[in-house]
Amino acid sequence: MRRKLVAGNWKMHGSLAENENLLNGILAGMGNVKAGVAVCVPFPYLAQVQAKLAGSAIAWGAQNLSQHAKGAYTGEVSAAMLKDFGCRYVIVGHSERRALYGESDELVADKYAVVQAAGLIPILCVGETLNEREECITEQVVGRQLDAVINKSGVASLANAVVAYEPVWAIGTGVTATPDQAQSVHAFIRGKVRGLDAAVADGLIIQYGGSVKASNAVELFGQPDIDGGLIGGAALNAEEFLAICRAG
Ligand code: 13P
Repeated sequence: MRRKLVAGNWKMHGSLAENENLLNGILAGMGNVKAGVAVCVPFPYLAQVQAKLAGSAIAWGAQNLSQHAKGAYTGEVSAAMLKDFGCRYVIVGHSERRALYGESDELVADKYAVVQAAGLIPILCVGETLNEREECITEQVVGRQLDAVINKSGVASLANAVVAYEPVWAIGTGVTATPDQAQSVHAFIRGKVRGLDAAVADGLIIQYGGSVKASNAVELFGQPDIDGGLIGGAALNAEEFLAICRAG
């Protein structure tokens, strides 16, 4: 049985004071949460979450990193640096990175590989745009995004990774994929992996992301192939986030 994982993606939000409140609120309500919980925060706050969450049940991570190990890459952050701050997870291939920063499938696969090489766990985001869904090429797009990683790092690498299915049209829009829509893509992802390695497929955590709220989390997380969520806006409110965590 896979354990559910609920991860907050704070995106570019927060301040030292806001984070302090948010983390205090989450920590105070963790008592009856069975799912694994993580927060992925902006780089400058890694020291804060490390200090605050050390020894707690909450893991933490980053939202991006460089594909390079070190060197003359002004403004970039390496996997080893994230490891220094006690990160467990790193989000790679978020649709905002793909769309706004031109990250290709190949670059995402490179980032995924350096995360694993540093002993960290990538949360690999995949998902189609509204146009792609309307063209009925969702599986083609998600399959291609997965293949880039599998071709570079091998299917066995997914034993140390999390996949997040995030339909782009559902992110930050308030329009959530229906449980059936999400389940169908999750089943496709697991089936694709199962075709290569059944044990890896059975153990793979596949999160759903895109306008998850306390009010829809129970039904979404109740689907057989949905193993928790990657939460944006709702992760910035302790009560709402905890309610989603309890759905896991
Ligand atoms: P929202 O939950 O705000 O739709 O964001 C989802 C997301 O992009 C998480 O990575």
